[in-house]
Amino acid sequence: MNPVSERDALLAGLDPAWSTTDPASLLAEHEERSAELERLDAALSDAFRRWAHALAGAPDVKSLQERQVAVLGRERGVLKRALGELGQLPPDERRRRGAGLNAMRVGLEAVVKARREQLERAAEAKAAAGLDVTLPGRRPWVGKPHVLAQVQADLLDLFHGLGYSVYTSPEIESDEYNFTKLNFPKDHPARDAHDTYWIREGATLLRTHTSPGWVRAMEERRPPLRLVFPGRVYRAEQVDASHMDQFHQIDGLFVDRDVSMADLKGTLATFARAIYGPQVKTRLVPVYFPFVEPGCQLDIACAICGGSGKNADGSRCPVCKGSGWSELLGAGMVHPNVFQAVGLDPEVFTGFAFGMGLERIAMARYGVAEIRLFLENDVRFLSQF
Ligand code: DAH
Repeated sequence: MNPVSERDALLAGLDPAWSTTDPASLLAEHEERSAELERLDAALSDAFRRWAHALAGAPDVKSLQERQVAVLGRERGVLKRALGELGQLPPDERRRRGAGLNAMRVGLEAVVKARREQLERAAEAKAAAGLDVTLPGRRPWVGKPHVLAQVQADLLDLFHGLGYSVYTSPEIESDEYNFTKLNFPKDHPARDAHDTYWIREGATLLRTHTSPGWVRAMEERRPPLRLVFPGRVYRAEQVDASHMDQFHQIDGLFVDRDVSMADLKGTLATFARAIYGPQVKTRLVPVYFPFVEPGCQLDIACAICGGSGKNADGSRCPVCKGSGWSELLGAGMVHPNVFQAVGLDPEVFTGFAFGMGLERIAMARYGVAEIRLFLENDVRFLSQF
């Protein structure tokens, strides 16, 4: 093979566009290598110069890799091909060409390494140029208590101020504590009002209210008792905008000697004023609950229509449905049968109890019309509170 065709073969894998790149990127040491090759093998020296320019002029890491494969690639690189052809040369020529190709490989690898370092340094400099250390830092996103946890904490705080402490009772409850000891006789229709999630039918259930807490507390401690019972409760409800099958309640219990309905009324009025302001209008309406006698519900004047039951244009208020009132909680005097069930003498002890739904209070306080939002964990909703 003569030097010219040898050179042509070596340049076969060279994309013409590659040689137009800036020769300034070639370092002095590569020139030296080229001169050294010149002495050894003119054809190789010429090819080296062209390849070295192509490699040193690669505009970015990706094209550098591409060019590296074309030259030094183990399978189809030009050098590999040239080495494969050595066998056809006479022994003298073969040794000279072999040494030349080896020097060429070492030289080209040095060019690749130098160019890669250049490109990496340039990328780092560019990234650093985009960094403005004088900008204020980004504040990390900080979570906060769920709106229901906030409402619960506010209410517990209020009851602490009235001398109540918290009693925690289990979410998995027995029929006995959830119903029987609270004076729900077996087969009484009042049980049907609590659409119960049974764990073992007739025996174990997810508590349908927080009132079983009072039975446990009264069995465990002697009066006087002033306790609140916050927690999650469960009912097999059809879920809609105002019903969930799990929600939260706080029950309260006050047991001592000579506790009267007047004490209950005073406590509820204090409570209502604390959460809705001193001017809030309230009323007590008689209602049946098995565990209290008499039982009642506390209503507050509708926050939307102010108690008139009408909109400004005279049409019916959609929130209280024209009644002017909305129900806030259930309450009453502890039923003698409940005292008996826990071993307290109803002739000696009296007490009152009340129970409220947290979701309802939060909805009224913040004007939330959809109960399911509380459980969806959408930060766009929750971050508002
Ligand atoms: N436990 C009742 C319920 O979930 C609410 C209730 C009514 C609680 C009257 C009370 C009470 O403490 O006195 O429907």
